[in-house]
Amino acid sequence: MNLRAAAVRRKPVADLITEGDHGTLKRSLGLGQLTMLSIGATLGSGIFVVLGEAVPVAGPAVVLSFVLAGVTALFSALSYAELAGMIPVSGSSYSYAYATLGELVAWVCGWCLVLEYGVSVASVAVGWGQYLNELLRLTFGFAIPDALSQPPGSGGIVNVPAIVVVLLAMFLLLSGAKESARANAIMVVIKVGTLVLFCAIAFSAVRAANFTPFLPLGLAGLSAGAAKLFFSYIGFDAASTAGEEAKNPQRDLPRAILLSLAIVTVLYCLVAVAAVGALPWQEFDGQEAALSHVLGVVADNPLWAGLLAVGAIVAISSVVLTVLYGQTRILFSMSRDGLVPAALSKVDPKSGTPRINTLVVSGFVAALAAFIPLGKLADATSIGTLFAFGLVNVAVLLLRRRQPEAPRSFRVPFSPVTPILGVLCCGYMMLSLDGATWIVFAGWMALGLLIYFGYSMRRSRLAAE
Ligand code: ALA
Repeated sequence: MNLRAAAVRRKPVADLITEGDHGTLKRSLGLGQLTMLSIGATLGSGIFVVLGEAVPVAGPAVVLSFVLAGVTALFSALSYAELAGMIPVSGSSYSYAYATLGELVAWVCGWCLVLEYGVSVASVAVGWGQYLNELLRLTFGFAIPDALSQPPGSGGIVNVPAIVVVLLAMFLLLSGAKESARANAIMVVIKVGTLVLFCAIAFSAVRAANFTPFLPLGLAGLSAGAAKLFFSYIGFDAASTAGEEAKNPQRDLPRAILLSLAIVTVLYCLVAVAAVGALPWQEFDGQEAALSHVLGVVADNPLWAGLLAVGAIVAISSVVLTVLYGQTRILFSMSRDGLVPAALSKVDPKSGTPRINTLVVSGFVAALAAFIPLGKLADATSIGTLFAFGLVNVAVLLLRRRQPEAPRSFRVPFSPVTPILGVLCCGYMMLSLDGATWIVFAGWMALGLLIYFGYSMRRSRLAAE
């Protein structure tokens, strides 16, 4: 087989659009639900858990780290908005890369999306267990023992809470996209409410002295903090995995992506100001449930810290639900193209959901979360996501050149400057991540290439055609 021809074969945009139009999934989601889907996937352990790891790295400047990570996300979000409106299919950036950069890059992108969605959801499920234990400790004075709440290698045997949250999400997803979207919307309202409550309480304890020195660890700390916090923005692109389930994808997908990013950015900055303003930055070191800890210190009534833990549990549940959803839809597209087994694109006629796919993905994620220590994984998922985002910006540039006249419901302003800045920001963030993360990433890519050359390349539907 001609390796080069296989690697560069592209799927025409028109074919992708037709496939999406005649898809087997049910179109049931409106703008509100799509926006909630993206907020649902974004707002979670990043703000509730990773913030606590970023403050010791950046100091009070963590507020600017959030802005920097948000700007990086914004450039890519604009590119996502253009492509999601133009090619509204379930595969998200994988499909955009297939149309522009060829099959090999599309596969690599899809493989990175497994890091962004499949692996990140496992690490998010682990964060869920941490807040569950915090809540149990606050309300009943006990916590689930390590043996049953930690994986082997971290002092335990199996992480039961992580399995529970993944299975709950799986059952919802099996019942249908509309049902899942409804449950997600309720959870999103609760999590936004929780963060607003946090701000209200923490702002009353803010002291100007806590902001000086503002940059105790210099600019390097600020950008390392931003690279860490980029994790908290992952997920704004989730609406783009619902291209085939949106009622009016051309109009609603770009709006949902940009609206969700605007809402979470404002919330994150407010929460960050309130958190580091209320407590000296040094006191965040080693706090797993950081926001709950802040309230525990600054509020007299332990009820608030308990309520925050409940909010965090709901928040992280909705991330698990929506990110799991996104992973199933991306694999659905890859399976339809023949790059992964065909069973993953079989749709159950009653619920309109890819049943086998949902079972397989949930099983994989539950096992990963239950048995693998995921400490370093947040950074590894960020690097994969940044790579995929970079490709989306490149895809915008290529399609503008190759198909300038094709209909676009949203256009990135100031192109090509904006997408180029998007690529540069993603590259810069990737370089800010540490060496260990790069090693994990290189290993992940090598495994992906083995699978592509050993299996996917030969099974590709484009090859058969
Ligand atoms: N952005 C998602 C979170 O913070 C992955 O949980």
